[in-house]
Amino acid sequence: MRIDGRDYRTIWLDDDGRRVHVIDQTLLPHRLETRLLSNAAEAGRAIADMIVRGAPLIGVTGAYGLALAVADNDADTAIGVAYAELLATRPTASNLRWALDRMRAVVVAAPRGERRAVAYAEASRIAEEDVAACALIGDHGATIIKEIAARKGRRLNILTHCNAGWLATVDWGTALAPIYKAVRAGVDLHVWVDETRPRNQGASLTAFELLGEGVPHTVIADNTGGHLMQHGLVDLCIVGSDRTTRAGDVCNKIGTYLKALAARDNGVPFYAALPTSTIDWRISDGVKDIPIEQRSAREVTHISGRAAGGAIVEVQLTPDGSPARNDAFDVTPARLVTGIVTERGVCTASAEGLRALYPDLAL
Ligand code: MRU
Repeated sequence: MRIDGRDYRTIWLDDDGRRVHVIDQTLLPHRLETRLLSNAAEAGRAIADMIVRGAPLIGVTGAYGLALAVADNDADTAIGVAYAELLATRPTASNLRWALDRMRAVVVAAPRGERRAVAYAEASRIAEEDVAACALIGDHGATIIKEIAARKGRRLNILTHCNAGWLATVDWGTALAPIYKAVRAGVDLHVWVDETRPRNQGASLTAFELLGEGVPHTVIADNTGGHLMQHGLVDLCIVGSDRTTRAGDVCNKIGTYLKALAARDNGVPFYAALPTSTIDWRISDGVKDIPIEQRSAREVTHISGRAAGGAIVEVQLTPDGSPARNDAFDVTPARLVTGIVTERGVCTASAEGLRALYPDLAL
């Protein structure tokens, strides 16, 4: 997708065929800088420190991280250590385990000496498949947007939470892909962007993306959505997901559940858009079984942004001595989700719906 009219992806291989470039998302929207990941430890740090973030991109970075580990040492034990270290970086997104499992299985099946080439080929395949999946999610989701737009016969207002755009994937995004596709098809729409405290992925990343693509949008404080819905100012909510259970429970950035509750109370359709790699077929009850990442309290007590002089600075919000708690995700039960959009199409958020879309994978 575009920044200042130039096409970008979030992650790409260096010309040396070994190292990996990523956009440093901790500096956006104020500075566009890239980082070069030279080994598995650097890939792990990039995920843990949220230089890269978003479930699909975490998965792809994990895959390249394992390829970097194999490039350094292709023995089974070294691969096992790198796998465990990368997996431990962020516990909630399904895509990381999915990508690492796939990488490890393919790599250890190859003879030593060939593993490096096999690992890079597989990581690149995972990245390309993510792009293709997100483009299809965009097509399926755009159909929903077009239907609602045709029914309403006026500019559509769509609310999204966190950043589930191209910066959270390799390209296109999940929740934002349908928006990009609908806009390119001529649908007149406007996006309400939840700021998404504490790390403000909405205010900093989603707004940045929408600006780059020329999509009309307005950033709102997190607590505004319910009020807007009560006044008929939201026609549709679309969010991404970090892990979705086989029963259709949707885990996503903290605060998503409250938006789904408000949407239900106001009769606003609430969709989750996600690639197959986000579905955890092993679990059913998301509230009980999805591990919720606990991040540093400092992300709540402090906030960073651009100072008048241009420097990126961090300031403290809370009094010295007040403790803070930072649950990074919550779970929206399937009953509050109107539908799930994947690269295969749209289904109800239910075991039956997912089984119908995935007869080959569902348990
Ligand atoms: O903590 P983050 O920024 O990695 O969380 C991102 C989200 O919650 C996204 O909504 C989710 O990963 C879907 S991304 C396509």
